[in-house]
Amino acid sequence: MNIIKIEETASTNALLKEWTQKQSLEEMTVLVAQSQTAGRGQRGNGWESEPDKNLTFSILLHPVFLPLQKHFLLAEIVALAVQEVLRNLNSLFSIKWSNDIYFENRKIAGILIENEIIGVQISQSIIGIGLNVNQEIFTSNAPNPVSLKQILHQEFDLDGLLDKIVGRFEYWYEQLKAGQYAHISESYHNALYRKTGFHAYQDANGQFQAQLLSVSDDGYLHLQTEQGEERCYAFKEVSFVNFRWYDHVF
Ligand code: BTN
Repeated sequence: MNIIKIEETASTNALLKEWTQKQSLEEMTVLVAQSQTAGRGQRGNGWESEPDKNLTFSILLHPVFLPLQKHFLLAEIVALAVQEVLRNLNSLFSIKWSNDIYFENRKIAGILIENEIIGVQISQSIIGIGLNVNQEIFTSNAPNPVSLKQILHQEFDLDGLLDKIVGRFEYWYEQLKAGQYAHISESYHNALYRKTGFHAYQDANGQFQAQLLSVSDDGYLHLQTEQGEERCYAFKEVSFVNFRWYDHVF
């Protein structure tokens, strides 16, 4: 593992990608920035992070061994690494499908995975992770952000957290390489937000109550409605409905 720390960049995902176009970098190169001036989120959103207060970093991988139809296992191990480190601090952290990390109904971390696919292989994957740590005021229009400090009322050491997350990620990446797909998937399911009981969801046809059945290795969410009908959704096709927030799932 090779951890590179810089003061500032627009986006660690963008910079790491730029570097890979100019030189060959070893797998598990980690680029950490104290500050991002144009942090990128999912669905073209930005990622708010006050300088020096949070973790914003990207990891370079070459997961050529992973069958394309199992690509979502990569997202699962990233989410697991972050959730497990947080779970040691408090049991209420969960993974919200597809790959947000939540504390109760609020988002503490986001993950942005950018893959390059050649033929049937993921030739390169840049895994971007943003974890809200010591920030106390959020100003963007993100619906429900929260930080560790807001939850646990203490400051956290950023390097210590980074080491733990990268350490857990290394463990899970080895599991992925070893083809331990069932172990990964089971651990991911155990950590899922709203994994039991009926909850409100919204799709293109409106709101409905459903329970979570599973997430498949290609990332689809399988739900069962109160009437017993099974429904299957790709990213962006369904949202979790909260009494306060309509927080999109991807
Ligand atoms: C999301 O919208 O939930 C994903 C947010 C991902 C943010 C991280 S911060 C480090 C890396 N660099 C970026 O520009 N984005 C990711």
